[in-house]
Parts: sequence; C-alpha cells; structure tokens
Amino acid sequence: MLGNDDWWRDAVVYQVYPRSFADADGDGMGDLEGVRARLGYLADLGVDAIWLSPFYTSPMADGGYDVADYRDVDPMFGTLTDFDALIAEAHDKGIRVIVDLVPNHSSDQHPWFKAGLRDRYIFRDRPNDWESIFGGPAWTQVEDGQWYLHLFAPEQPDLNWENPEVRAEFRDVLRFWLDRGVDGFRVDVAHGMIKAAGLPDVGPKEGPQAEMLGDEQLPYFDQDGVHDIYREWRPILDSYPGGRMAVAEAWVSSAERLARYVGPDELHQAFNFEFMMADFHAKSFRTVIEKSLKEAELVGAPTTWVLSNHDKPRHVTRHGGLARARAATLLMLALPGSAYLYNGEELGLPEVLDLPDELRQDPAFKRRGESRDGCRVPLPWTTAPGCGWRDPWLPIPPEWTELSAEAQEDDPASTLNLYRAALKIRREHPALGGGTLTWIDSPKDVLAIERDPGLVVVLNTGEEPARLDIAGRVLLSSGPLAADGSIPPDTAAWIQR
Ligand code: NOJ
Repeated sequence: MLGNDDWWRDAVVYQVYPRSFADADGDGMGDLEGVRARLGYLADLGVDAIWLSPFYTSPMADGGYDVADYRDVDPMFGTLTDFDALIAEAHDKGIRVIVDLVPNHSSDQHPWFKAGLRDRYIFRDRPNDWESIFGGPAWTQVEDGQWYLHLFAPEQPDLNWENPEVRAEFRDVLRFWLDRGVDGFRVDVAHGMIKAAGLPDVGPKEGPQAEMLGDEQLPYFDQDGVHDIYREWRPILDSYPGGRMAVAEAWVSSAERLARYVGPDELHQAFNFEFMMADFHAKSFRTVIEKSLKEAELVGAPTTWVLSNHDKPRHVTRHGGLARARAATLLMLALPGSAYLYNGEELGLPEVLDLPDELRQDPAFKRRGESRDGCRVPLPWTTAPGCGWRDPWLPIPPEWTELSAEAQEDDPASTLNLYRAALKIRREHPALGGGTLTWIDSPKDVLAIERDPGLVVVLNTGEEPARLDIAGRVLLSSGPLAADGSIPPDTAAWIQR
C-alpha cells in the first residue's frame, strides 16, 4: 500500500502534538494509544503521513523537546510496544509516520549530562554574550564555576557536535527508529548543532538576539559545518527501503540559505516558514509563493507549506478569523509541494488567548513572557462537557464542544469537512500537489493561479466581491460563493475549467 519512494514530495503531513492530541488512559495527557485510536479519523481526513512531536523519555521542561532517552517512550505517552503497534496500524491504513529528532540539545536529565560527561556538551570557563532563544543568557554555571551552553532552557544543554561520540550516537539513534519502521524525521533546530569556531560574541545589537533569528547569521546558527552532519545522515536514510526522509526545522536568513539544507546528499525538505509568517493579503502571499518556488527550483525539489504548528499562534487567530483561515488553507493545499497541517487546524481551532498565567507551561513564558501554550490546548473530540477529556493538562474552553470533531462530523459546512473534501480532491488531482503553476491576471487583493492546465485557485483577500472571468465548475470553496459566481471577501475557491 505504501510504495513510491518520492511520496514526501507532495505529501500532506499531519503534525500530532502527543500531549494534546488524544488521551487513551484518561490521565489528562495525550498518549500514543490515543493516537492509535484516532488513526481512523486521520485516514478519513485523508492525510498521507503523521509527524509525531517528541514522545521520548523527558522531564518535560520544554514539552518533550528536552530528551533524556532518545531510544524510549516516556511512560506518560506509553511504551515502545505502543509505538510499534501505532506504526504497524498506521502503515496498514496507508499512513506514514515521521518522528521528531532533537539533536541540538538533550535534557539535563540525559545520562551523559548527569554523569558529568562534559566533552559531550559545551562547557567554558566564562560565558560569552549569547542569549537563549527563550530569553536571558544562554549559559548556566555549575558548582565548580564552569558554564554550559543552552540555546534554549537551562534544562536543555547543547550537545557538542565536534565530538565524534555525539555524532556516532545520533547515527545510531537514526538507525534505532528506522529499524522500527519510521518513514522519516523532523529535525529540530536543524541549523543549530555547529557553533562558530571559538564561540565569538554576537556583539552589540538593538533588542534581544532572538529577534535576529533569520535576519542575519548568528555565530550559533546556520554554520557551514551542519551540512557535514546531513551528508553523514543521508546515506543512512537511503540505505533503508521505502523512501525514508528528513525535514529540517531551520530558521535561516533567506530562501538560498534554506535551499542548502535540501538536496540528494542532505535532507529531503526544509520547512518553509515564510508562508506561515505572511500576512493575509494577496500581495504577501504572492511574494512568498514566488520566493518559495525559486527556492524549490534551486534545489530541484518541491517546497513545503505550513500555516500552523506548535510554536506559533494558530492561523485562525493570526489571520483574523475562521473564514480567512479556511481560505488560506485552500490556497496552501493547492500549491506545489507538501503541506504540513497542525493538529486541530482541521477543526478550525483558534488560539486560546486567556489561559491563566499559572497554568502556562512554556519555558519561554517564564523567561521571556511569550507563551506557546495557546496553540497547544488539547483537541476537542466530543460534544460532552470536557470534550472527551478528563482533567486535561491545559484547560479546554467550554465552548469548544461546538468545535469538536463530533459536532463537525455530519455538518457539510464544517471546517473538518472542508479539509476532508480538499484532501480528497487533492488526491484525485495529483496536479494540485505537483505540476506547474501559472499566475493569472487578477484584480488587486485577489490571487488567481492556474495549477496544471485547467485547475484554477482564486483567493480574495480584499473587501469587495471579486468578479473573475473564469468559466468552470467550482470543485470546492472555503465559504459560500455569490449567486453571480463572484468570490466574496476572505474566500477561496478551486475551479475546474
Ligand atoms: C523547536 C521546537 O519546535 C520548539 O517547540 C522547541 O522549543 C525548540 N525547537 C527547542 O527544541
């Protein structure tokens, strides 16, 4: 059923944030059995693959992105046996499974750090001026006066990738999961493992260093040496059958820099975050799409599209409402390349803005006052009070019963059914995820694209209805169209000429 080594090129990948997706044992924390129980839902949705955010042994200082054992499942998420059952059943249903790999840093509870194996980490007599992405200095002092580097929380010491033992360990970790049948990896902080020689200061700047991400080359990001690591990994991936892949999370300064991570001797894909950062406006989308296609041309592989993930406010809220989110989704799902969905976006979930501070768990909130908890609230499954959860780790807004999967199941106008319909059409028209893209002249504030001959995507981001002279059959629209066929504001449509 799975076949086709190039499956990732136009795949729709669904990100499962395990804490928040579904809870099988009723402890308020999502788990792998919860994911397995919902594979039917994911198959009905029509996704090609799931990406599991970390489920490894972790003290959860950063939601599992602080790994204490790279080869085991944390008891709160289940067991390796549960993982094996999940992957087997996913494959039976034709769904591939990608796992998160966190190579830039481990947890401070990792046996290496606990055993004081300092050559595996980055220790110095004195700190430099580097700042943590979560705010505050990137260095913490230990009892004997030495300092260790942590680009994120102090509980996430950076690993020393100049040490061959670290490299060997991760090659082995890759094989461990590949042997268990995973179809690929999402590489966390893929631009971070190698630091500039001598760890030079960043120097004077205005504002926090975290705001410079992607603006210019920091001495701890996007160094040439990271590419050697991927050139070591690629033959490992290629030595397994069935198209095992890796996608980089790399925040770099340009499409050209991002393109360097992708290619036949490095990784298969890199997240294209520019699309996620674009405003809801025809012009912004067009600029980003053109840039992204240029990047794809540079590497000879299609790009990726993302609207939401576990680190950014959900796009319903970011773009200013559900209508816009639905329209942006139809645009994304008609672009060449693969699309990454974030769990709950198919229900049209908004960002939860009013979580009480004392319940927020994001380490960035404690250090920098910015919290990513609002997009991590557990998914509402049922119309019963609690939405199918007992005592969830973050409170679910009571009104989310109306957004629950159960509430949306039989409503043809629901966002869940919009996603299902879009993914079904995308499968029936492979040209939507591949093929060519041609811009069609359109009024200001309107985007019109022809995908392969005959399939047109129109998005109206303006304030007036858009009348376009495109005769054809409407395959799908993100909201009702006017009787005269014009596209209302904040609406997108797929038209078959
Ligand atoms: C990126 C992950 O997406 C984010 O959630 C995490 O906090 C950092 N990397 C550190 O691992």
